[in-house]
Amino acid sequence: MEHLSVNQRAWNSLADSGSLFARTATDEECRTPLKSLDGRGWLPDSVAGLRVLCLAAGGGWQSILYAAAGAIVTVVDLSDSMLELDLRESRRRGYHVQTIRTSMEDLSMLGAESFDIVHQPVSTCYVPDVQPVYREIARVLRDHGLYISQHKQPVSLQVSHRNERQQFVIGLEYYHQGPLPSMTDKAYREEGTTEYLHRLEDLVGGLCTSGFVIEDLREPRRADYTVDVAHFGYRGRFIPPYLRIKARRQTRTTDEHSAAVSPAGLWLPR
Ligand SMILES: C[S@@+](CC[C@H](N)C(=O)[O-])C[C@H]1O[C@@H](n2cnc3c(N)ncnc32)[C@H](O)[C@@H]1O
Repeated sequence: MEHLSVNQRAWNSLADSGSLFARTATDEECRTPLKSLDGRGWLPDSVAGLRVLCLAAGGGWQSILYAAAGAIVTVVDLSDSMLELDLRESRRRGYHVQTIRTSMEDLSMLGAESFDIVHQPVSTCYVPDVQPVYREIARVLRDHGLYISQHKQPVSLQVSHRNERQQFVIGLEYYHQGPLPSMTDKAYREEGTTEYLHRLEDLVGGLCTSGFVIEDLREPRRADYTVDVAHFGYRGRFIPPYLRIKARRQTRTTDEHSAAVSPAGLWLPR
């Protein structure tokens, strides 16, 4: 589990040094929180009173916006410093946000079917296997609950460098196993972290086999035709960096429901 301690340290340090990903929600964004969170209309018209899990989403952005929209918010993250931002901002704004420090594949402290929405920003790249993460999300989401997630596209992580003609070279095999090696091309890689490539069959197919139905899938556009070749917008003309997925928890069968709320072997009084 070395990746966990490496990533915890790296994200503490990114948060403490004011990373772009540790940018808290602004007053302006809080005025229209649902619009700030979701430009695609994937969220319901109101989340007031809904139980929302912001997964691997420390940093005081998602949590604060959901709280501003009236949701009951829990944030899970591996990094104390990222969670500290959620606590600081929620106190400052008078919201209550519950923070839990754990890894995304162990949500055992959270009850089955206890959330209406799980919102996970880019973070599955920090664990070697997405299946245990999907399994936990499927457990904690209620039937028909919404799971919104964003992931790094495998092709973006395969780029090793540019050649002399500024073309992007795929230097890493699609079937690479284990932590990603260091690359000359550092776009969309966070300093000091250990990351993993997940193939589309795992990211997308894995959702379908974990009890979800995919309702929409987008590739956020990062192409910019006005910038020079060094800019990430130029890279975005060739390689989509992210995948954004809207998935819905399928209805559990009666047996699945009973197993979720009363684990096998546990004696329950009549
Ligand atoms: C890109 S940041 C996302 C947060 C940010 N609020 C945003 O808007 O994008 C990725 C987050 O994943 C967290 N993280 C990394 N590995 C994790 C793990 N195994 N379990 C839970 N969180 C993890 C990091 O600490 C970091 O806060």
